[in-house]
Amino acid sequence: MRQALLDGQSLITPALFTESLYQTKTAFDGDQLESAVFSMSKTLDQANLEFSRGGNPSAIIDTTARELHLLRNRVDTSVWQALLPIAQEHPVAEYFLQDPFTRWSFTKPRGYSGDAGLLDFIYGHSDVANEINNASPIGRALYDYTKDASSSVAVRERRDLLTKHVDAVAAARGKETEILTIAAGHLREANRSQALQEDGISRWVALDQDPDSVESIRRDFAGTRIQAVEGSVRGLLTKANTLGTFDFIYAAGLYDYLSRKVAIKLTQCCLNMLKPNGVFLFANFAQEIGVDGYMETFMNWPLLLRSEEDMSDIVSASIGSNTMNSTIFFGENRNVVYATIQKIG
Ligand SMILES: C[S@@+](CC[C@H](N)C(=O)[O-])C[C@H]1O[C@@H](n2cnc3c(N)ncnc32)[C@H](O)[C@@H]1O
Repeated sequence: MRQALLDGQSLITPALFTESLYQTKTAFDGDQLESAVFSMSKTLDQANLEFSRGGNPSAIIDTTARELHLLRNRVDTSVWQALLPIAQEHPVAEYFLQDPFTRWSFTKPRGYSGDAGLLDFIYGHSDVANEINNASPIGRALYDYTKDASSSVAVRERRDLLTKHVDAVAAARGKETEILTIAAGHLREANRSQALQEDGISRWVALDQDPDSVESIRRDFAGTRIQAVEGSVRGLLTKANTLGTFDFIYAAGLYDYLSRKVAIKLTQCCLNMLKPNGVFLFANFAQEIGVDGYMETFMNWPLLLRSEEDMSDIVSASIGSNTMNSTIFFGENRNVVYATIQKIG
């Protein structure tokens, strides 16, 4: 496994994330912290007790995740940040880390959060079957919960929605269609693309910063129209990756790590790479996520959740005075929010 060279544009390690967040943090409230620690300890002590008594892992994680979500919403960001290491050091973490999905996220085998291997736990891909099969009974039961948590359901829907968009664009624009995927991961959405199978795409460029993911795409899609490219957001912004123009460009699982400023710059850059009437789509985890507290504590997976207004703000700041069609919409369970922008003429 080769370590990806992080470009500093996406906040894909908890340290980068905290650094960026703390530039705008609110004043630290000591009293609030004390009461939040008390409240969280009560929840985690109870979960620990129930695990030790052989309680139902699925029920335990469900209650814990709900309580953490409520707590996260109730306290200041700075207080919540201070709670993270306390949760991670609580004895109950030993149980939660038996879930292979939680463990992968927490230990970060590729050195950063949200790698494509992690997403394979959500997709139930055979590449992670060993980790799942080797888990303890508690770990398996926890995984049954985490793989079907609302955020996981939304990510599987996102993959399928991307396949549909690619196929629809190829159907509308014909065999010359060119697609660009930014932060492609393992490009699992291409597995079920009819257009790809039927040679209805002329070029599908899949860009990612992680050499292991790029290698996986090269291996899985050898002999197809897919071109795997090792490259980064920084490379796109500085024009080090010059890739040409496209009918459809999209990024899923990336904006969740981009500050507003970088998100706008990247969106503008993508709009410049669109052919006339081409479409850019980006997705972001939404603020409706109910397992955010669990993700940030036991999975050590911080994300920038965005509202419909946040998405609109990025879209309008990126478009400026240009005339373009845009839409914002949610996935079915509202855990992922999407924006599309179409370049006119
Ligand atoms: C959560 S995965 C999403 C993978 C895929 N799009 C999906 O939905 O399954 C995030 C991907 O973004 C890539 N990534 C993160 N920051 C990046 C950057 N600054 N430049 C290029 N790729 C980046 C990671 O390497 C990882 O493969």
